[in-house]
Amino acid sequence: MQKILVSDTISEIGLKKLLEAKDIQVDIKPDLHTDELKNIIGQYQGLLVRSQTKVTRDIIKAAKNLLVIGRAGVGIDNIDIKAASEQGIAVINAPDGNTISTAELSFAMIMSMARWIPQSHSDLKQGIWNRKKYVGVELNNKVLGIIGMGRIGSEVAKRAKAFHMHILAYDPYITQERAKQLGIHLGTIDEIFTQADFITIHTPLTKDTKYLIDEKAFSMMKKGVRLANCARGGIIKEEALMKALDEGVVEVAALDVYEKEPPLDSPLLKHPKVITTPHLGASTQEAQLNVAIDVAQEIYHYLKNLPFKNA
Ligand code: NAD
Ligand code: MLT
Repeated sequence: MQKILVSDTISEIGLKKLLEAKDIQVDIKPDLHTDELKNIIGQYQGLLVRSQTKVTRDIIKAAKNLLVIGRAGVGIDNIDIKAASEQGIAVINAPDGNTISTAELSFAMIMSMARWIPQSHSDLKQGIWNRKKYVGVELNNKVLGIIGMGRIGSEVAKRAKAFHMHILAYDPYITQERAKQLGIHLGTIDEIFTQADFITIHTPLTKDTKYLIDEKAFSMMKKGVRLANCARGGIIKEEALMKALDEGVVEVAALDVYEKEPPLDSPLLKHPKVITTPHLGASTQEAQLNVAIDVAQEIYHYLKNLPFKNA
């Protein structure tokens, strides 16, 4: 009997393939403390996580029988890939299932920033009728800078084009031909900083993207730029963002992800020009079902030596 531990909340309907397998035992134990996880991980051949479980080198060292780690989502920055590969453990993700949900949240952020929807909603709920304070801007004819033109960035671009925005994208790994197919202009990151009215980030967090948006980047931006991050905390340097908001360089920022999560002691949460959601990009019924189905299928195939795609 092979054993799989599910240590985050993952759609059980989506996990059907594993739950119904006669020769696989699935233990669902979300919210384990790190020490508890370390104590029990040695019993398992498979580990299935979302983003809350931090699969550190320490955990991997204790995972003596682990063959595969599945991530129900795209980002694998909560897993120590180097430690896993040193120990011969495969890491499999579910890269497609939450693309649309995250693109839709990103677009909702762009619209909320344009029209001050969260701030004016919050005022009115408190009995404050303030029509003068909340004059917004149109999206029509504005330049949207998209940093990272992969799955999510491309879906955001499609939606922005329907709103007649001009798309200026930066992604060192896509070709002019792909840009042409998408009907967007591919530029440099400096062009985005200097020309964009709105900027939205859709890269993974890597050593190249860590603090990609720092003091220097803000110093180049158009005054009044609106900036959204539904990718990963740490791509924007939060300290520099605070300063840029206070100086009026950034008119509004919309954040779904943070350097430290939850960011409960971050001054950004209290800033009137910051719109915040608690890492909800992939939190739709559809996305959670999709990623669970995909990762369950991949883990099943891996454990049964069948062909698999996303390792
Ligand atoms: P993807 O791999 O399809 O696209 C990422 C793109 O970023 C690629 O085209 C890649 O070439 C580009 N890129 C890599 N390094 C870059 C750099 N230095 N500068 C500019 N571009 C660079 O991934 P995706 O599905 O579009 O997801 C993007 C990221 O969004 C994920 O890595 C994940 O961290 C994050 N995400 C967040 C949520 C959420 O809940 N908020 C949900 C899904 C994904
Ligand atoms: C991802 O990388 O897929 C996201 O962070 C979504 C999640 O919260 O799992």
